[in-house]
Amino acid sequence: MSDETDPQTAIDAERDRLDGDRDDRIHEYGAGDDQPGIPFVGAGPGDPRLLTVAGKELLDRADLVVHAGSLVNSELLEVYCADAETVNSIGKDLEELVPLMGDAFEDGRSVVRLHSGDPAVYGAALEQMDALEHEGVPTYLVPGVTSAFAASATLRTQLTLNGVANHVAFTRPQGTTLDPEDDHVAEFVGMGDVTTCIYLGTHAIPETMDRLLDDGIDPETPVAVVYHASWPDEDVIEGTVATIGEAVEAAGYRASAMVLIGGAARGASEEGYERSYLYDGWANRGGDTADAEGDD
Ligand SMILES: C[S@@+](CC[C@H](N)C(=O)[O-])C[C@H]1O[C@@H](n2cnc3c(N)ncnc32)[C@H](O)[C@@H]1O
Repeated sequence: MSDETDPQTAIDAERDRLDGDRDDRIHEYGAGDDQPGIPFVGAGPGDPRLLTVAGKELLDRADLVVHAGSLVNSELLEVYCADAETVNSIGKDLEELVPLMGDAFEDGRSVVRLHSGDPAVYGAALEQMDALEHEGVPTYLVPGVTSAFAASATLRTQLTLNGVANHVAFTRPQGTTLDPEDDHVAEFVGMGDVTTCIYLGTHAIPETMDRLLDDGIDPETPVAVVYHASWPDEDVIEGTVATIGEAVEAAGYRASAMVLIGGAARGASEEGYERSYLYDGWANRGGDTADAEGDD
């Protein structure tokens, strides 16, 4: 593989190439299909059993697995790819990662890039894929269970709930990599019928809650923090915008937690929730077919 191309140049060139000229593979393959190239696989939230069947099959036959360090449960590597070489990507930059994976692929090895949760959510998969594609190495995505879904399962709730939450926001709070003006947590929570799922914000829960209070959010708004969802040391801390900061600080969690804000985090608002149309005789009333896929 050439080691000449700077990754940003490769990313820009790849985006220019695809601008107006969509990738034929979009129509050729569906998610979950085996494809030529390096798969970027979602490992799921932690429990090896929450890896997809497609992901497991790919790991089974991998020679090299480049994984997202402590975010991927090491048990998953032990169980599904004991014979593969495993490399932790944490601390490696694109300049290192791209040739590491590309050279192995060109040497005929079966390479898997393993991201935590789903690679499409706060995973920075696309920049690695673009840089590899620019070097002539095909890549593709294999979805995984994102941590917000694991957290909602732990909490025995839905992220969308009739009469409580009509929308879901996946977001992150301001910090080193997000400017304050791009922090929309208060806007999502302020909408009232949104379940706000905060990634990458465990270290800053008290500050985030203080900002919500300053922005006039109801202090009684429910908040649930699920640490290490689906891991053996999973923990749940529940409270409100007013109380959760202190509780999480007391527990000492600074990373690896999902923060869910809104009535759905507690399974209902104070008034409960409304039954859905789907199981309310809708089917027998000849409902509008445009709405037919509205509930599940
Ligand atoms: C770099 S992001 C990766 C997200 C991942 N792609 C996903 O779909 O879950 C890491 C953040 O995801 C969340 N996270 C990842 N795994 C988690 C888990 N098992 N339980 C709770 N939160 C988790 C935390 O907020 C953490 O800061």
